[in-house]
Amino acid sequence: MNVLNVRDLTVRYLLGKKQIYAVEKVSIFVKENEFLGVVGESGSGKSTFAHAIMHLLPKNARVLGGTIELLGREITQMNEDELRKLRWKEFSMVFQRSMSALSPVHKIEDQISEALLIHNPQMNLNQIRQRLESVLKMVNLPLRVLGCYPHQLSGGMMQRVMIALALVNLPKFIILDEATTALDVVTQGQIIEELKSLIKELSLTGMVISHDLGVVSELCDNIAVMYAGRLMECGRKEDIIHRPLHPYTKALVASLPDHVEKGGKLYSIPGTLPDLSKPIEGCVFASRCPLVSDECLETTPPFCDENGRGVACLKVRNEICNLSK
Ligand SMILES: Nc1ncnc2c1ncn2[C@@H]1O[C@H](COP(=O)(O)OP(=O)(O)OP(=O)(O)O)[C@@H](O)[C@H]1O
Ligand SMILES: [Mg+2]
Repeated sequence: MNVLNVRDLTVRYLLGKKQIYAVEKVSIFVKENEFLGVVGESGSGKSTFAHAIMHLLPKNARVLGGTIELLGREITQMNEDELRKLRWKEFSMVFQRSMSALSPVHKIEDQISEALLIHNPQMNLNQIRQRLESVLKMVNLPLRVLGCYPHQLSGGMMQRVMIALALVNLPKFIILDEATTALDVVTQGQIIEELKSLIKELSLTGMVISHDLGVVSELCDNIAVMYAGRLMECGRKEDIIHRPLHPYTKALVASLPDHVEKGGKLYSIPGTLPDLSKPIEGCVFASRCPLVSDECLETTPPFCDENGRGVACLKVRNEICNLSK
């Protein structure tokens, strides 16, 4: 069963007279007990996509098309009252740079209890304490953290608190947006290991967003590759890492440390993201693509998709058609 089905989602930001084409017709799905990794370089639209699913887009954003079916409900048309009953309880998110969202003047215990009580006002003190203890254990934090203020915690501890906050209501779907990016490499590695066990033990379903294909491949079953607001490729993790099709995905894979350690050449992609305030004709990756030809500059490649394996590239789409035969 698919817990999340997003079809043709299009989100743009309005900036004065300009539009920023942040997410253009992106379709993905997430099956129960699976994690989807969304990967792509900075500015490719990953957070916008996640905020649209949470219905927490900034005021200047517009959802211009598409559907989001989450936990069996179509949520694009829901009003804020309906959504408030579901958000944080049924689906939740750890935001990119979320640590700054903790209140500096309240103890961690009060902040997590509040998040719990909003959705479970019937809980008594004993039940609250039990849930706090179990959620702290989940994220590998000692109980003394409950009595601390945010400034008394290390970056890794704060990030674990953010994960605890997202989990305290035992949601059925969770999004982690760059949940380990701001941390040092050792702490990042520890939290990834902890998340791995947590995902397995609690049979969680969700999405992990990162610009780092290494992080995403540690935690996810499937991977969706975004570039300049478009979906470039998707598939099972093994296929994306070992049999990438899109030239952009190939470049991401070639820059993984494992690949380099095995004697591969470290690949860097020349050029930068296109200007997202202008409509782009043809393929959005064309200006940086080693396979580019005239047709790529004229024709927008359709997303060719068979059984969860898909690619948007005129040069390699035949391989997907062959895969299905
Ligand atoms: N509130 C906003 N108003 C206008 N443009 C925005 C706004 N938020 C994001 N953008 C633009 O939308 C595009 C996608 O941004 P988004 O934050 O979704 O990318 P991202 O993939 O999450 O990047 P990162 O890896 O840096 O977090 C970028 O061009 C960004 O500058
Ligand atoms: Mg982001």
